[in-house]
This record gives sequence, C-alpha cells and structure tokens, in this order.
Amino acid sequence: MKHLITPNDLSDKEVEELFEDARIFQDLRSNNILEGKLVVTLFFESSTRTRSSFEIAAKRLGAEVVNLEVQTSSTNKGETVEDTVANLNAMKPDAIIIRHKDCGLPASLKTYVDCPIINAGDGKNAHPTQALLDLFTIDQHFEGNIQGKNILIVGDIVNSRVATSNLELLPRFGLNPILVSPPRFQSNSSFRNATHIKEVIDDADIIMSLRVQHERHEVNISKEEQEREKEEYVRDYCITKELVGDRDFLLLHPGPVNRNIDITDEMLNDPRSKVLKQVENGVAIRMAVLKKFILQKENIENKRIKVKSSKGFSLIELIFAIAVIAVIASVAIPKLMGVNSKAKTSTVNGDISTIISSVQSYHMIHKKVDKISDSVTLNPTVWSIADKEVIFKENDKECVKIAVSDSQLTVTIDQASGDVCSELYNNGVRNEVFALN
Ligand code: NCD
Repeated sequence: MKHLITPNDLSDKEVEELFEDARIFQDLRSNNILEGKLVVTLFFESSTRTRSSFEIAAKRLGAEVVNLEVQTSSTNKGETVEDTVANLNAMKPDAIIIRHKDCGLPASLKTYVDCPIINAGDGKNAHPTQALLDLFTIDQHFEGNIQGKNILIVGDIVNSRVATSNLELLPRFGLNPILVSPPRFQSNSSFRNATHIKEVIDDADIIMSLRVQHERHEVNISKEEQEREKEEYVRDYCITKELVGDRDFLLLHPGPVNRNIDITDEMLNDPRSKVLKQVENGVAIRMAVLKKFILQKENIENKRIKVKSSKGFSLIELIFAIAVIAVIASVAIPKLMGVNSKAKTSTVNGDISTIISSVQSYHMIHKKVDKISDSVTLNPTVWSIADKEVIFKENDKECVKIAVSDSQLTVTIDQASGDVCSELYNNGVRNEVFALN
C-alpha cells in the first residue's frame, strides 16, 4: 500500500503522471471515477484551503467524504490519534487525509490502516500536495520551461512545511531555490541563502512568499518587542510594488496570506500574482492524487468505470471505441485504412466514415456499448494513429488526443482549435479519464 507522506514518496515519473491527470481535471468538472469510494478527512490543525480542496476534489471524482470534527471527537476524551485512526479504518474508508501538528505522525499511522494515508501537513515536516500544486502552477506558467529557474522562498523557512516540501520537490525538476529570511527563520540547508531580499531580487523568476508561522514559535519576548519585530519584518520581507518594480516574475503564496505583512494588497491584485490560480490548481492536483492513491488497490484491469455525461454517451463512446481500435490497430484500422500499425505514428486522411463503420462493427461484435451514433458527420480531416495514441488534428493543431495505457484511456480536447473540435466539445466530448477493461 502506497501512502503520500512527503514528495519523495513519488518518483519523477509519478509526478509527471499526476500532472498529466491534473491537466485533464483542470476544468474541475465532475465525473464518477471514484464513485462508491469513501474519503475521511481528519484535520487536527486549522485549514481553509487544504481541507475544502481535498473535499471538493473527492466530490468532483464522485467519492463520498466524511469530515471528522476533531473538536467534538473522542481525542478530546483522551483517545490517542492512533486509536482514532484504527477505529476509522475499521469502517473501511478508501483514503484517510490527515493534518496534525506533530511531525511524523501521518507516517507513524501507516501500520494502523488498510487504505492510503495522505498527509495534508504535519507540523513543519511536510505538505506534499501543496508542493505538487506549486510545481504544477510554476510549470503551467512557464509552459514546461522550468529548468534553471530561480525561486526565492521568502519568510519563515525553518517553520514552514510548505518550504520543506518544496525544497524536496522543486530541485528534482531543475528549479534553484534561494532562501530569503531573517536569521531567526533561516534553516540549516545547503541552498543559497540571503538575509536581504534586495540582494537577490534581480535573480528571481518566481517569488514564493510564506506566512510567519506564529503557532510554531515559542514567544518569550514582550509585546513591544513583538511589534518591533513585525515592523522590521514588513519593512524587509513584505512583497511590495516598490520592491519588485516592473520585473517579470511569478508571485506565489500557499495562503493564508497575512495581507500587507507577507504581500501588499496592491501586489496581490497584480497580474503577476497567481495565488488564486494555485488554489484552483490545488483541486485538480488533489483529484489526481486521490485517483492515483485510491485506485492503486483496485484491479482496474477487470473493471471499466463509466464516466457519466449529461449529453449521453455516444460521442464519448465513439472516441473510446476509436482508441480501443487504435490499440488493436493491428486488426481493425490497418486493414480498413491500409496503414502500417508498426509505424510509430500513422496518418489517416479524410475518411472518418470508414473509422466510424469499423468502430461500429467492432462494437457490434463485442457488444461493448448499446449504440454508436451513426449520424455523426465530421469534416474531412486528419487522424494520426500511433502505437497507443490517436490524435485528431484540425488546422494543424491537436484537437483531440486519446492516449491509452494498460489501465486507462485519457481523452484531451482543445475545443478552441477549430470548428470540428468545438462541435465535438458542444456534443459532450470533454477531458476525461476512463479505466479500461
Ligand atoms: C499552509 C499550511 O497549512 O501549511 N497553508 C496551506 O496548506 N495552504 C501554509 C500556512 O499555514 O502558512
């Protein structure tokens, strides 16, 4: 059983696969990939974004969610967290999402459960889904060109699990962290350090501002000294328009933002700030994470999960079937179209009706679906059929891509690429993931 405790629980390939899924889930539309599954959230520390993001992600995938209200749970009657989790596990959830102030607690619970544990933050130790959504947002902004980009991480580095997890994940994908903080917030790390943001601001491609983690500080100074420290902090580390000028960079913050302490109101409204984009991407990333971790124990080879569409199934099924045919390209399409299935990518010109009829015969034989629409007419166009991929191009742009792996079929559509694509989109073809039988 695989759990997600820190970003290092995922290989680079797994991160890339999660991002591929997250791109598909990006429109945050609902599907039923996790229909019948149950996710329990257990937040012993406060949260606005992370808990609601996990809950929305689970619900968007069709799962049920139970949020255990920790304030009213039996941990208040002296029950240990281990016992609480063992009891929840006895009710057979499909994943437990946990946040706790103690570093290492989620990892220590692995032996008490039969389902994946997803760490939603443990003290200053780790916050893997935050780092994933941060990397995803950076990758999206720079359109994949992130090698060698400098990221200033500004603030209470030593107490921030967001910093810890980002420092674990981002360098694996070629980013250079530069840690900017007053000496009392500096961590013992091998990354480049700076005490003054002005020293390094010219090097910044990305600035990630962090909140001062007061809840993890032992306060042994007077109110006046605290006030003075705060003023100094704002003066030296708040991201202001005056500090950044017209420099071209991406501004991030995991939230909650302490306005005008971490980042000014003006900079939060600046187009360079992608703080709300991070929140939006957080749902897509968590959808991808839940799908991966919950379905790991399924034998999806033997199960096809149907994705409901309000407009009916026929076009989606058509595309599904075309992709199935592409997979069995050595049988159906090559014979009909005269293409070479051994070639990495073959191109089929024009004759969509032949593909449709081959799909129909295939489905008539295999009775996979009740009906394939025969009224679908597509303009003369180009399909390229690769080993495990069908790409439909319009105006030289990829309109629909159907990728097939051993266990799933992924449909990606760019409805803006032309008339046929928008017609397909209007007929209910969407970014979808299907499990294959
Ligand atoms: C962070 C957290 O809780 O670690 N927030 C979040 O999950 N979005 C950062 C913080 O509390 O400052």
